[in-house]
Amino acid sequence: MNQDQLKQAVAQAAVDHILPRLDSKSIVGVGTGSTANFFIDALAKHKMDFDGAVASSEATAARLKGHGIPVYDLNSTAELEFYVDGADESDEHLHLIKGGGAALTREKIVAAVAKTFICIADASKLVPVLGAFPLPVEVIPMARSHVARELVKLGGDPVYREGVLTDNGNVILDVHNLSITDPVKLEADINAIVGVVTNGLFAARPADLLLLGTADGVKTLK
Ligand code: 5RP
Repeated sequence: MNQDQLKQAVAQAAVDHILPRLDSKSIVGVGTGSTANFFIDALAKHKMDFDGAVASSEATAARLKGHGIPVYDLNSTAELEFYVDGADESDEHLHLIKGGGAALTREKIVAAVAKTFICIADASKLVPVLGAFPLPVEVIPMARSHVARELVKLGGDPVYREGVLTDNGNVILDVHNLSITDPVKLEADINAIVGVVTNGLFAARPADLLLLGTADGVKTLK
């Protein structure tokens, strides 16, 4: 199986997991990226079995609407049972690095509201220690240089993701060369830098379930 087939398999596994737990009033939180796109395409086949979705990015909202799935504002959504999204890395505790697609802030907000966060990823994303994937940090544009200097003090090498503006109108610094042995602390330390909107560590609120696509089938970690 190639990587796309593994992503497709975990996307289908997520649909199979949530479908029996949805009803006509359910709203599903949906992430961003290629694995989330496979999930949207698989979920769309069952669009009559739930009410609609909350999107973590403009791109995801457009794909959902393209399938005829109603997209709701999070502020008008009382209950969100499930949030389903991919990741750039996960450790065995389901602490994640996300934000490769620059959607980390909205992803973190929807994940915070959802009762159950299901992460879907191919096996290459499971790592012993987070940090080989550069950690994305969303930053208010005027604070970019200040935040970069503070990230260097924390031991990282920040690189400005040129030409990218987030859906919130901010910029991304990708922090290289971090070996993240205490993700909960680093998430808090980076978020405490003035000018940071949020960073791509999902450790204070990790995933509840990781559906991992492997050559031997989909494995469930919790
Ligand atoms: C977007 C994300 C994605 O979930 C992450 O980048 C994984 O993407 P893909 O499913 O394409 O491998 O965090 O901001």
